[in-house]
Amino acid sequence: MPPKIIALLGSPRVGGNTDKLLEQAILGATKAGAEVRKVVVPFLKFRPCMEILHCVDHETCKLQDDMLPFYDEFREMDGLIVAAPVMTMGIPGALKSFMDRFQVYYMAKYERHRSFIPKEHQKIRKTLFISIGGMNIENDFEGSKLTMHAFCDIIDCPYWGEVLQNDMDTIKDIATRPEVMQAAHDKAFAMCSLIKEGLDRQP
Ligand SMILES: Cc1cc2nc3c(=O)[nH]c(=O)nc-3n(C[C@H](O)[C@H](O)[C@H](O)COP(=O)(O)O)c2cc1C
Repeated sequence: MPPKIIALLGSPRVGGNTDKLLEQAILGATKAGAEVRKVVVPFLKFRPCMEILHCVDHETCKLQDDMLPFYDEFREMDGLIVAAPVMTMGIPGALKSFMDRFQVYYMAKYERHRSFIPKEHQKIRKTLFISIGGMNIENDFEGSKLTMHAFCDIIDCPYWGEVLQNDMDTIKDIATRPEVMQAAHDKAFAMCSLIKEGLDRQP
């Protein structure tokens, strides 16, 4: 079976710089034999977590919106690619709300002590984080990375690697940095190759 990968775009600019890197990563993942489903998160229609706490004792969320299919899809996926620009020193709002709605997974794992992801699958699953920021400052990705690590723990899809590029206000077009485009491609290829090896070893 080919690895099932979900690729989340956190920028609303389809064809923008973050998307250019994500498309490179999708190319790399596909070359490694993966099936990739791309999701432009800012175009989904869903509410932020309303803390109804339905998920304390249910395996889904009570809010009936575009989030619902993802609760099953995130169980089945073998790997995740998240591509997001830095916004206000962190993950862009729509994508952050998407992540917050995985409180459904948090409750299963940390409250009921029964993760949705079987131990063997946890060992295979991996996440690649791609991010760009406008500013030329050292700690540009700290906020986003804290959120990403927490999210990867909650969904049991371990943080495996990253491609980060700040100073986009100067660079303007990421295509002028072929080494960064190549890194997005190569990291996704490497991650999906490892996932495939893990799946192939399964009895
Ligand atoms: C609402 C908003 C907030 C932003 N906040 C930051 C920030 O805190 N730090 C930073 O380095 N860049 C920030 N940026 C700049 C973006 O990270 C940068 O322009 C990036 O290249 C956008 O990528 P995209 O065109 O693919 O969406 C912000 C941009 C927007 C639109």
